[in-house]
Amino acid sequence: MSNKIQTLGGYIHEYSKSIQNPEEFWSRVADSFHWHQRWDNVVEWDFVGPDVKWFTNSKLNITENLLERHLFVLGNKPAIIWEPNDPEEAVRTITYRQLYEMVCQFANTMKAQGIQKGDRVIIYMPMVPEAAVAMLACARIGAVHSVVFAGFSATSLADRINDCEAKMVLTSDGNFRGNKKIPVKAVVDEALENTNTIEKVIVLHRTGDEVTMKEGRDVWWHEAIEGVSAVNEAEVMDSEDMLFILYTSGSTGKPKGVVHTCGGYMVYTYYTFQYVFQYSPVDVYWCTADVGWITGHSYIVYGPLLAGATTIMFEGVPTFPEAGRFWAICEKHKVNQFYTAPTAIRALQAYGTEPIQPHDLSSLKVIGSVGEPINEEAWHWYHDHVGKGRCPIVDTWWQTETGGIMVSPIAGVTPTKPSYATLPLPGIQLAILDNDGNELKGNSVEGNLCVKFPWPSMLRTTYGDHERCRQTYFSSFKGYYFTGDGVKRDEDGYYRILGRVDDVINVSGHRMGTAEVENAINEHPKVVESAVVGYPHDIKGQGIYAYVICDMEGRSEENLIQEIRETVNKIIGPIAKPDKVQIVPGLPKTRSGKIMRRILRKIASADTGNMGDTSTLLNPEVVDQIMEGAR
Ligand code: PRX
Repeated sequence: MSNKIQTLGGYIHEYSKSIQNPEEFWSRVADSFHWHQRWDNVVEWDFVGPDVKWFTNSKLNITENLLERHLFVLGNKPAIIWEPNDPEEAVRTITYRQLYEMVCQFANTMKAQGIQKGDRVIIYMPMVPEAAVAMLACARIGAVHSVVFAGFSATSLADRINDCEAKMVLTSDGNFRGNKKIPVKAVVDEALENTNTIEKVIVLHRTGDEVTMKEGRDVWWHEAIEGVSAVNEAEVMDSEDMLFILYTSGSTGKPKGVVHTCGGYMVYTYYTFQYVFQYSPVDVYWCTADVGWITGHSYIVYGPLLAGATTIMFEGVPTFPEAGRFWAICEKHKVNQFYTAPTAIRALQAYGTEPIQPHDLSSLKVIGSVGEPINEEAWHWYHDHVGKGRCPIVDTWWQTETGGIMVSPIAGVTPTKPSYATLPLPGIQLAILDNDGNELKGNSVEGNLCVKFPWPSMLRTTYGDHERCRQTYFSSFKGYYFTGDGVKRDEDGYYRILGRVDDVINVSGHRMGTAEVENAINEHPKVVESAVVGYPHDIKGQGIYAYVICDMEGRSEENLIQEIRETVNKIIGPIAKPDKVQIVPGLPKTRSGKIMRRILRKIASADTGNMGDTSTLLNPEVVDQIMEGAR
């Protein structure tokens, strides 16, 4: 099936078809795949339960569709091009045939190590091809993978292992990241002291650093695969069997495990990858995300490989060994589609255009953005200096829960507007609701972004706690999926995402729940109470500002602040470290004891001109004291 659309009229036509007859629309896309058994119904759903099923009773294996389905024609085409952290190290190019063999061999290896269909496997690995092989090998045998970003702490890792009762961890001795080496195996060892379900750990040799191998539990990857057959018959899965769990932060409590299933996720990631980026078979595509996030799942691994694309995997960071690294890689591999995050763009923008100049970026056709709102300045810089004014920017809005891109321009087709994700993709029926749940029809409206009809790759549940899924996404507005984002639909019907309306902060495109950071801060023995808010940050989009009430006895403020930041680092990981910590005498509260975050957000943003009415607070005097302290 080709997803080439030439004109905006073509998009409008495609969109109308998808709305008038979603069943017919999605079954046409699904027909591109190999199914062991065809579906009874395309979709069955209700948004109250919620209960959503796509391609009911159909049977498939997603890896047959991204490996076997391509072998005859694309066997020798590069599937993955791996660019190492150190540019002096050799690039690895893995063809579809080689990938097929690696996946089959590792699938057999995992089986030999005791993994069966339905078991949960944690992947805590660097950005190396083996991480993709690990994900696909799980999918091959019907094991459920849960990739944990290798920057998370031992505590975060243990929490995730315990929540899904995982049986195996796949990891490495260490990870290279810029000029740093991260001892990931040691983090796994620490995490496993607080878990009791893990039976085996398979360790990839990457940095060569010495690690402790626990007898009977830990095995080296290269030893485990030795002599194992590369012939493997894929497990036949039901369309609604679990494919993976990915943990993400919300406004309350611990991260939740978002569950995606096989059939719908396959159909939607494939379709949106081809459609949004207008990928052609000869193109080289690069998404700079980490496989630890949903972007890495859907648009480094599954979407591109389902489409038979060549996908680049980059192990390193944008500024190592120098600030021109991204552009050097684009030139080296003649990248055609480049997909990154606003935070990376802003970080590189700070180095000016000099690092770009020596590089030939003429291969670029499409440049993309994901993860947070892209501000106009960064949009223009990206457009003018990276895209040289000739590459369309696809500003793609979506979420871990949506599985795939929901709102985005179609490259070269949809006229773009800086900072606008523009229009919904075919099949996506958006609604903007006011706080009372009324749908705001027509243009020039602003409100809560919801979706009113299912799409194939939407989350099905949150692992082990369906009620939490209902509460979080389906209870705010009855009959709608609520995204947690605010949105504006302008006079042209274009969508601009305004950011989260709940207590979630988006730090460098990473989602952090304020409650989660507060819980970590409160672990410090001297902390009495804390409140965390986001504030505008030039590079990260949002920074983390923590107001903390402490027992100061015998401590200097400076040391205490340092210790608090370290506590968060230890409990969650470096990405959650507060940028600013202010020790305060109290927190502004309503008479019912609720913290007035609105006031704290204003102080954090240095926007203290109009604090609104504070007289109804339980402790109005504290506002001035906090403002004074912030100065
Ligand atoms: O607030 C939106 C923001 O990121 C949130 C989803 O985060 P996560 O599940 O980690 O997935 C990130 C990668 C898909 C959304 O609720 N967000 C994501 N993309 C955009 C965005 N905000 C504005 N514009 C975007 N393009």
